[in-house]
Amino acid sequence: MARYHGLWLLIIKTLAIIHIVQAQSQQGFISLDCGLPTNEPSPYKEESTGLQFSSDATFIQSGQTGRIQPTLASRLLKPYTTLRYFPNGTRNCYNLPVEKGRNHLIRARFLYGNYDGLDNNPTFDLYLGPNPWTTIDLRRLVNGTREEIIHIPTSNKLQVCLVKTGTTTPLISTLEVRPIGNDSYSTQFGSLNLFFRVYLSESKTTLRYPDDIYDRIWTAYFWKEWTQITTTSSVGNSNNYEPPKAALASAAVPTNASEPLTIDWTNTEKPDDLYYLYRHFAEIQDLQTNETREFNMVWNGELMSTDPIIPDELKITTILSVTPRTCAKGECTFQLKRTNRSTLPPLLNAFEVYTVIQFPQSETNENEGMFQCVSNINSFIHVRSILLFFYF
Ligand SMILES: *[C@@H]1O[C@H](CO)[C@@H](O)[C@H](O)[C@H]1NC(C)=O
Ligand SMILES: *[C@@H]1O[C@H](CO)[C@@H](O)[C@H](O)[C@H]1NC(C)=O
Ligand SMILES: *[C@@H]1O[C@H](CO)[C@@H](O)[C@H](O)[C@H]1NC(C)=O
Ligand SMILES: *[C@@H]1O[C@H](CO)[C@@H](O)[C@H](O)[C@H]1NC(C)=O
Ligand SMILES: *[C@@H]1O[C@H](CO)[C@@H](O)[C@H](O)[C@H]1NC(C)=O
Ligand SMILES: *[C@@H]1O[C@H](CO)[C@@H](O)[C@H](O)[C@H]1NC(C)=O
Repeated sequence: MARYHGLWLLIIKTLAIIHIVQAQSQQGFISLDCGLPTNEPSPYKEESTGLQFSSDATFIQSGQTGRIQPTLASRLLKPYTTLRYFPNGTRNCYNLPVEKGRNHLIRARFLYGNYDGLDNNPTFDLYLGPNPWTTIDLRRLVNGTREEIIHIPTSNKLQVCLVKTGTTTPLISTLEVRPIGNDSYSTQFGSLNLFFRVYLSESKTTLRYPDDIYDRIWTAYFWKEWTQITTTSSVGNSNNYEPPKAALASAAVPTNASEPLTIDWTNTEKPDDLYYLYRHFAEIQDLQTNETREFNMVWNGELMSTDPIIPDELKITTILSVTPRTCAKGECTFQLKRTNRSTLPPLLNAFEVYTVIQFPQSETNENEGMFQCVSNINSFIHVRSILLFFYF
């Protein structure tokens, strides 16, 4: 291990196993259309995804239902057009059934949409049980925001709480929970807070369920220094991560084949954040016998491993961080550099970046005294805004 001076890497190669498509069934998914009026059908099928959304009324007893302004609503998917708001009480919580010890993707969206006609975007806090998750500042994020974590609940009940912090009224538009594979997104230090999740493609299509069995949302991302390569062949996506096949069927290479492929960002809000990186590679070009594609990964100028990457043809390789990485002053640079013997430039199909978020207290502690006490903890780490992409 000592010879790895950068990241410790774990390479997950495709396993030739029969793929069980059990997760295709939305099993264990909780998809709440918050504030869905009681006179509307629940559950209902959201047409663009096929997801079964239901009213949130069985998971929370407090709050009132609202509907965003019609001009805005006409441009949005149905689940985002209603909301639940909480004029009463400081802290209002959803109680969600989950599988203790299993990783879950937990995603919440917030859109004010002037539902009350007061034109007064609220700001409030989001908690996971007694633990601060993030601040939702809709005065700044006037077009709404989405928060997403990957977290292992410590009991079979998960509380997601909205906490009033000033004079404005907390609200929530949707709440989604997806159990995910047991052997993926494991971390030693806390939970994962989504920073960005992209597939490298010039298309404008966002991928999620049913392309993604866990309903992760993949934004198409491309940069002018890159050239897109694509395949019409099916790309094997079986490993612990299973990104959508469609996300692997395109990739970016640097247009100037001598240059590295570079993705960089600056996290001015949380310069001390720790990052977990998940890189998904598949060779999707038909290589001639005299052609080789081989490259190294570089993080903030430092080589991440001694073994170069040679993506398998039409089969996924996922490379993940075993320990989280830092960036000086929040300036992060990830690069792929071809090796001397490579005849082709590096390639990247899909890329996920998470920051570490700590939820130290057991989630289901409903003791208000405990809550008051831990609300002073400010050592947790989070990133609220996605600096590269618009996410709602
Ligand atoms: C909120 O409080 C007001 C005033 O105390 C009360 O009239 C109303 O019924 C409460 N609403 C809910 C949903 O509890
Ligand atoms: C995942 O792990 C949990 C807790 O260890 C276990 O109860 C569950 O059966 C596992 N699920 C799968 C699909 O392996
Ligand atoms: C909100 O959306 C509008 C219309 O798309 C856009 O012009 C504006 O810049 C957005 N505001 C923010 C803060 O993202
Ligand atoms: C490609 O990159 C190399 C190395 O940076 C540079 O020397 C060369 O001028 C570039 N070629 C073009 C066409 O920009
Ligand atoms: C590979 O071989 C083909 C012809 O067989 C040739 O056109 C091409 O230039 C060669 N590529 C490299 C990188 O040597
Ligand atoms: C690659 O080429 C560079 C420049 O010619 C050289 O410094 C470096 O040692 C070479 N690396 C390998 C692994 O051969």
